Amino acid sequence: MAQAPAATLTQNVLREGLILSRTPDPAVMVIFGASGDLTARKLMPALYNLALNRYLPSGFSVIGVADTPLSEDDFRAHMADAVRKFSRTQPVDRAVWQSVAEGLSYVRMPFDDLDGYGRLAAELERMDRERGTNGNRVFYFATAPQFFPVIVERLGASGIARTGAGWKRVVIEKPFGHDLKTAKELNHTIHSVFAEPQVYRIDHYLGKETVQNVLVFRFANGIFEPIWNRRYVDHIQITVAEDIGIERRGKYYESSGALRDIFQNHLLQLLSIAAMEPPPNFDADTVRDEKVKVLKSIHPVDVDNDVVRGQYGPGWVGGQQVPGYRQEQNVSPNSMTETYVAVRLKIDNWRWADTPFYLRTGKRLPSRASEIAIQFKSAPHQPFAKTAIQGMTPNVLVMRIQPHEGASLKIAAKIPGPVMRLRTVNMDFFYGSSFLVESPDAYERLVLDCMLGDPTLFAREDEVERAWGLADTIEDGWAGQPAPDFPNYPAGSWGPEAADALIERDGRRWRRP
Ligand SMILES: NC(=O)c1ccc[n+]([C@@H]2O[C@H](COP(=O)([O-])OP(=O)(O)OC[C@H]3O[C@@H](n4cnc5c(N)ncnc54)[C@H](OP(=O)(O)O)[C@@H]3O)[C@@H](O)[C@H]2O)c1
Repeated sequence: MAQAPAATLTQNVLREGLILSRTPDPAVMVIFGASGDLTARKLMPALYNLALNRYLPSGFSVIGVADTPLSEDDFRAHMADAVRKFSRTQPVDRAVWQSVAEGLSYVRMPFDDLDGYGRLAAELERMDRERGTNGNRVFYFATAPQFFPVIVERLGASGIARTGAGWKRVVIEKPFGHDLKTAKELNHTIHSVFAEPQVYRIDHYLGKETVQNVLVFRFANGIFEPIWNRRYVDHIQITVAEDIGIERRGKYYESSGALRDIFQNHLLQLLSIAAMEPPPNFDADTVRDEKVKVLKSIHPVDVDNDVVRGQYGPGWVGGQQVPGYRQEQNVSPNSMTETYVAVRLKIDNWRWADTPFYLRTGKRLPSRASEIAIQFKSAPHQPFAKTAIQGMTPNVLVMRIQPHEGASLKIAAKIPGPVMRLRTVNMDFFYGSSFLVESPDAYERLVLDCMLGDPTLFAREDEVERAWGLADTIEDGWAGQPAPDFPNYPAGSWGPEAADALIERDGRRWRRP
């Protein structure tokens, strides 16, 4: 199993400056689940945009695998429709699309059919011969998670995972397991065929520009890191708020809930990046070691006092009347699944001792907003009259992940006029206006990193297991509590009253992003 050395983040920074320090090797991406939603909505538009920006190597090819009978032409037409519909850049450049389409082919097979893997192997060999892909493969699992083990096993049994020269990598979509036990089993199954450096577990939040920018803000500027600690920071709020409901994902969501769907992965990833120590360099494992240390330092959660769960009832969002969770399609009318969770965490280390981190996520909240807010302590002494500083709030640095990616710092300023009156104003940075280019989609970054052999922005085995351990503690705590009084927040509100009480007990308030 030849493995190319991992690229570093520095190399990627150079790449972002349009200096390609390393072009990916020619490779074949095998997409399992090629007729599905993720392929159409995210993967194929990402590949097209990479091609448009000349990041794809010549000879790059895709073999789509799914069970729907499709001719090669049908598959190409379906992918062309997807790019027309979902690409962030429009209109589609015909010549670029043509160059991508030439490398597309399709193998129809059920995922458990070993004979199908024989046909897939033959197709891969043809690609190597005709398109010079040299045995380099990305196996992308764009399927429901119950298929991950069977595909891994068949890739191993058929020899595809190991045959010939070139590197082999596997990309696994979320959810990675359902709890710690199933995540460990999945890791075990994957490792029976692929070594850890070949495994790329996707959390698409890590591909977002602002999430990477938290690292740049913290570690490329001299002014933030010295105050990024308990001495100057009062607390940190991390929010992933959605205004949408569960759409057509009722069946999945009923077995998941907000804790598994968002807290275990996105919220804990954001926490790790906000709280980690500066890594000595940006090698993938060095960065991930620091993130894992944060997860290991989380103080044991007191579920009764530090966690609030909620479920939305009917209400109004954006001027539209919307049903409650229990009225959604494929949801039990007595469902006890949480659509909201708020957690207060403490981190047991010198940097963060006694500095609370408040994490929350919910569906059908008033707006869509993901952010990390660093709330600083008030100035130790105010020489201004009480009337001058009425309504002033302490400094806050907000890293906005979506929408309107960017950052803002709230500072005090004097209101113009002959008397001394102060107000809080924003110093803002917006990606759109500063760089005048649209941010790439997270999948573009992540797919390219995988092809370059850089797993920095993917979750490592121990990271995923630590995060599940924490989610399991909360699930176990809930199991010991009386049934919650769901629904306990109307759609269009900022969540249950108990979540306000959780933070207000500490003399603080949730932000309203
Ligand atoms: N959709 C998104 O925006 C999104 C976002 C983030 C993460 N994800 C994750 O991505 C994964 C895929 O989601 P999705 O929304 O794309 O699912 P989907 O639309 O249901 O697609 C599933 C794919 O799997 C194929 N398939 C199912 N059973 C099969 C079988 N027995 N043999 C062969 N092919 C089979 C389907 O092909 P046929 O119908 O042709 O058989 C289809 O191509 C999930 O893990 C999901 O959590 C999705």
